[in-house]
Amino acid sequence: MIPALRPTLFAAALIALAGGASAQQAAPPPAAAPAESAAAPDGKALFRSKTCIACHGRDGAKAIQNYPELAGQDAKYMLAQINAIADGSRVSGLDARGYPRTQGMKDVMHLVSAAERATIADYLAALPAPKPRPLDPAPDAERLAAGKDAYAKGGCTTCHGADGNKPLATYPKIGGMKRDYVVLQMAEIRDGIRKGGKVATMVPFAKKLDDAKIALIADYLSQIERAPQ
Ligand code: HEC
Ligand code: HEC
Repeated sequence: MIPALRPTLFAAALIALAGGASAQQAAPPPAAAPAESAAAPDGKALFRSKTCIACHGRDGAKAIQNYPELAGQDAKYMLAQINAIADGSRVSGLDARGYPRTQGMKDVMHLVSAAERATIADYLAALPAPKPRPLDPAPDAERLAAGKDAYAKGGCTTCHGADGNKPLATYPKIGGMKRDYVVLQMAEIRDGIRKGGKVATMVPFAKKLDDAKIALIADYLSQIERAPQ
């Protein structure tokens, strides 16, 4: 087995980047979340100081196509996902270096306490979502209509709502997500790579979709404007 050296180095670099000299000198052991401070910083300050910004961008909306859009996402859903990535119950497929895409985030989650995670999730949920990102090549109206149709026929509306924007409580909004992120998640949910959380309820629906249908639905969802909270 290859030791997980590079993610660890990456995590160390992130911790250093987050600026806490204290974090560099005395990184707490994984799993041990730091104690709550009396005057808790707000969500924005925590998002910036606890390394999130390095991967998720200044406003929770980094332009990397296969990273999730956090601005305007449901707060309870995000909190559950942060915890699931931290405790390893949500693991993604591998990145180009051969490590799970979730690994870098998992490596730094000991920096955030339970209360800080909730504060950051509330901050992110209240941010305005970015405009849909143009695709290259741009899907034509016919393809977007076919995507909408496949979304409805796939039963997605039941849980994620019209246009992916009115989900059941604690379920994710999926309208306005980045295309490549949607493609990865749908395929990994279908193929049993992403487990944990409430994902099992979706598996039977995902199993009915081949890669072409997933791409079609992802094109459509990515061009919808995410509804505000
Ligand atoms: C090293 C990079 C990295 C860091 C640091 C990081 N994340 Fe993530 N995060 C990711 C990646 C990549 C994913 C998506 C994983 C996947 O593809 O399944 C993710 C997923 C998430 C999700 C789930 C989104 C969804 O739609 O399911 C949330 C919420 C989240 N991150 C919040 C945070 C917060 C809050 C912090 C800081 C405390 C943080 N992340 C730090 C890389 C990172
Ligand atoms: C029975 C309910 C249900 C149905 C039907 C369903 N989903 Fe989901 N979906 C979920 C749940 C619950 C999650 C979050 C899983 C978790 O808790 O980790 C999810 C997650 C997702 C995600 C990942 C979101 C993120 O932020 O990472 C995407 C993309 C998605 N669903 C797309 C679809 C599409 C497209 C369809 C239709 C083919 C569909 N879902 C049908 C319940 C459902």
